[in-house]
Amino acid sequence: MTQTSKEDFFIKFISPEETHVVRHPVLRPGRPIEDCIFDNDDLDSTFHLGLFYKNELSGVVTYLKNSTLLLPNPSQYQLRGMAVLEHLQGLNLGTALIKRGETILTNLKADAVWCNAREIAVPFYKKNGFEIIGEPFDIPKIGLHFTMYKLL
Ligand SMILES: CC(C)(COP(=O)(O)OP(=O)(O)OC[C@H]1O[C@@H](n2cnc3c(N)ncnc32)[C@H](O)[C@@H]1OP(=O)(O)O)[C@@H](O)C(=O)NCCC(=O)NCCS
Repeated sequence: MTQTSKEDFFIKFISPEETHVVRHPVLRPGRPIEDCIFDNDDLDSTFHLGLFYKNELSGVVTYLKNSTLLLPNPSQYQLRGMAVLEHLQGLNLGTALIKRGETILTNLKADAVWCNAREIAVPFYKKNGFEIIGEPFDIPKIGLHFTMYKLL
């Protein structure tokens, strides 16, 4: 598969539990399903987006109202749990999720978005306008991470 068109997918808000369908195989493979529950998933200020490809939930991303001391901006959101099912990766679906997230964050008057990116995902975030800030660090069982941010 090399192409997608806008008619093939839509994005909408989903519940914290719905994210597990994609988080589990992509971000926590072989681990207990409970590992797909992230801190503060159910706060009122947290929102989750789901991308439905041909009507099946295939991509997820979560935004939390949370600041990093690496940035001075007063209204920051953290992007977490970004994942696209493996057989659909590389089709710009992740990019579509990031773009929708940014539209929502701009409406919420956020002025910066940041994430702790796995090393393998750094090119994806760079392609979407994020820059590295601070020093890389290790997250046990997952690997080397870089804090990346984008001003909105
Ligand atoms: C990272 C990820 C969310 C990107 O979504 P995507 O829909 O595959 O990405 P897009 O098609 O919108 O963007 C393509 C870019 O993503 C990167 N990319 C593509 N496939 C990738 C993969 N399997 N793993 C990591 N990055 C990938 C490349 O930089 C690519 O750019 P290029 O085509 O110019 O080389 C998705 O590949 C994924 O879920 N990967 C595994 C989980 C992960 O690492 N999540 C991020 C945690 S911080």
